[in-house]
Amino acid sequence: MTTLRLPGLIDVHVHLREPGATHKEDYDTGTAAALAGGFTCVLDMPNNTPPITNAETLAAKKQLARSHARCDYGIHLGAGDDNVETAYQLAPQVTGLKMYLDQTFGPLRLDDLDSLQKHMERWPADRPVLCHAEGRTVAACILVAHLTGKHVHICHVSRKDEIELIRKAKEKGINVTCEVTPHHFFLTDEIANTIGFGRSEVRPRLAKDADRQALRSSLEVIDCFATDHAPHTLLEKESPKPPPGFPGLETALPLYLELVREGLISIEQLIDRAVNNPRRLFHLPDQPETWIEVDVDQDWIVRGEEMQTRAKWTPFEGWTLRGRVERVLVRGAEVYRSGEVLAQPGSGHDVRS
Ligand code: NCD
Ligand code: ZN
Repeated sequence: MTTLRLPGLIDVHVHLREPGATHKEDYDTGTAAALAGGFTCVLDMPNNTPPITNAETLAAKKQLARSHARCDYGIHLGAGDDNVETAYQLAPQVTGLKMYLDQTFGPLRLDDLDSLQKHMERWPADRPVLCHAEGRTVAACILVAHLTGKHVHICHVSRKDEIELIRKAKEKGINVTCEVTPHHFFLTDEIANTIGFGRSEVRPRLAKDADRQALRSSLEVIDCFATDHAPHTLLEKESPKPPPGFPGLETALPLYLELVREGLISIEQLIDRAVNNPRRLFHLPDQPETWIEVDVDQDWIVRGEEMQTRAKWTPFEGWTLRGRVERVLVRGAEVYRSGEVLAQPGSGHDVRS
């Protein structure tokens, strides 16, 4: 047994579903899943019901998080066609502005090029604009961000052409960063043959092996690892119209460690992508006396029903993963130990409070 002490992980992209879809997840279960996975801070996406696009919906969501979250959290604001004039005023209270430019789960969408430009013009230059963009839309986001002098962060990059474009933009000095999910590093569209169509539905879609290999050979271009933890119930996933998304918080760290074992990155480079870069790019405060203890040699079999997430399933069901979180401390207090979440709902801090 080799126990490694690492800083608490930071996930810049999760969907904890509160308010509006707490049958899938809520702050209580979602942040319990975060701690069990070794995450001590998560940044939550705005595609709730209602979407988080103005002062009222933001205040209501913050109240829910304040009472229920067990780990530290930040909230991203949503960009719509209807908040072009007001969104930037909320920048100090949130961790980023999220733009949904391609089809995914929920109605929050930004289809209009004029709105995209206006949001980018107004948003503070030192705060990230996060884009759900696929294919050609990645090029559009990078261009508009560059023209307006903003920092654009491309979420869940999944394809070879996209990561190559981002590499070239960085080489030209453009202020673009990006994240990749564990599922796009480890799964391809072939998995539908094993787990079925509904369970394999996710946005961006699982891609081809050439795409997966391109991500693995571009680790120097990838700033952050992010789970895109997007829980839906099994009943929903197995329905005729399955919503896209995977739970991911409780399987991420052993998969990241697998990239280390495969020799693709060092443990220090893993910590850059899972802690240091998220903290720097999203301007997150230090978490004093906060760390995780991981038995990096321990093999365990993934069982959705044993997880903290309310979704109780995972696309990695039955996989043997290596590396288990044993203990988590936040601000000196033990908040997780050997399968048991000890943090109370409401003990997490808002990174913008
Ligand atoms: C996400 C969700 O379910 O909220 N789904 C997904 O497939 N990733 C939305 C998103 O991040 O696109
Ligand atoms: Zn997402």
